Amino acid sequence: MTHEELVARLEEAGQQQTLAFWDDLNAGQRSRLSAQLEAIDFELLNQLVQGEDAAPDWAALAAKAQPPRAIRLDSTDNEFSPMEAVARGEQALREGQLGLILVAGGQGTRLGFDHPKGMFPLGPVSQRTLFQILIERLRAVAKRYGVSIPMYLMTSPATHDETVSYLEKHDRFGLNKDELQIFCQGVMPAVDAGTGKLLLAERDSLALSPDGHGGTLAAFVKEGCMADAQQRNIEHLFYCHIDNPLAQICDPQMIGYHLLSGSEMTSQVVKKRAADEKVGNVVTIDGVTQIIEYSDLPPEFGAKTQSDGSLKLWAGSIGVHTFRRSFLERAAERKNSLPFHRALKAVPHIATDGSEVKPTSPNAIKFERFIFDLLPLAKNAIVIEVDAADAFAPVKNADGEPTDSPTTAKAAMVARDARLLREAGAKIAEGVAVEASPLWAFDSAEAASKCPDHEITEAKYFS
Ligand code: UD1
Repeated sequence: MTHEELVARLEEAGQQQTLAFWDDLNAGQRSRLSAQLEAIDFELLNQLVQGEDAAPDWAALAAKAQPPRAIRLDSTDNEFSPMEAVARGEQALREGQLGLILVAGGQGTRLGFDHPKGMFPLGPVSQRTLFQILIERLRAVAKRYGVSIPMYLMTSPATHDETVSYLEKHDRFGLNKDELQIFCQGVMPAVDAGTGKLLLAERDSLALSPDGHGGTLAAFVKEGCMADAQQRNIEHLFYCHIDNPLAQICDPQMIGYHLLSGSEMTSQVVKKRAADEKVGNVVTIDGVTQIIEYSDLPPEFGAKTQSDGSLKLWAGSIGVHTFRRSFLERAAERKNSLPFHRALKAVPHIATDGSEVKPTSPNAIKFERFIFDLLPLAKNAIVIEVDAADAFAPVKNADGEPTDSPTTAKAAMVARDARLLREAGAKIAEGVAVEASPLWAFDSAEAASKCPDHEITEAKYFS
């Protein structure tokens, strides 16, 4: 596109202010800004700014929301038994039908860590980072079933380069080169909340941010991962977030339920501990399974209880899903499979008079897509309840916060590993921290022959 064409496009879209400093920019700066502007779909942006895709009436939806179709932990009415599910899942694993999508494009603002979150040292005894913890889990599953399970790792422009060099420096924590594909998600521009105008982060650069983990869908195709999965005959993709050290990567039971029920998208959930817990609410509305994000659920609906006092909308998403590849392909072909969610944020920027604006309250709208909005499009979507103690201890907040901090996640890791070791016959003195790599023992049966005979009296990492 020539510069004249770009100017004409910007004028048509009413966004000429983005060129306020053009005359002062050198050639490199000009090409950077031009490339960012050319990548913008102004028609879409216009629709978003005009609110043509206005957010649904959450209160009306929440009023109709029912608990989802789910395999519950303590129910005798489940369609399939855990043993049937494990057997089916193990078969698929042995046949090499699984791949992993790990999303790590978030900026980790709440944690206050200045690097990609995967580099956060979390191992309570070992100091292993989140990347190492999750990759070891993946390798342990692959080893157990005698297959290679490729990992597709999503980064964002903010986390990409550092992630690539970190993982290379550590030899991908044991993954073979051809088992790891790192792909970068797209970005969306932020606009002024009052005027809908694009904001400049620098004189030569727009205020851009990752397009949400829903960006996985488009980036997975664009960056060649879908073709790679196809070529490897990967039929199902297990998806999880970088922030959960307990993620049961490629759990055979979950995969088994997914297959037995003919589901195109299966999600793990936990029983919510509190009505206002910061997890997506998995619900059924008019027979369709979907997620109402915690920030969208009016508190009075979240607080509704059943006759036994338990929460009616009990199912909290932990951001763990299994997708049929064919479903992702179908969804990716439809341009607007995923709606955009808007979030009001404080976005620092350069005003057109050159002054730096550092807002202390929200001034701009950011647009994000959420991968879980695929649920309503999936055939036979099903929800699997898991115990948070085994499967969910996210690291979201900085230490000092009461929930979802490194301290709470470490405590959950120690508790889980102590349980595994005790089941294997180990004696652990009260209050002593233990940690076990799944490569050392995948489960208590494997740990049984490896546990020390003596009591464990000081912090120990089994690797
Ligand atoms: C998210 C879910 C919530 C769920 C909870 C479980 C959303 C909107 N909500 O909440 O329903 O109960 O996790 O832990 O996701 N990420 C990207 N690119 C992005 C944005 C995020 O890769 O553009 C990744 C992050 O690196 C992280 C994950 O997505 O691994 C979750 O993002 P985060 O912003 O932490 O979501 P939450 O609000 O905590």
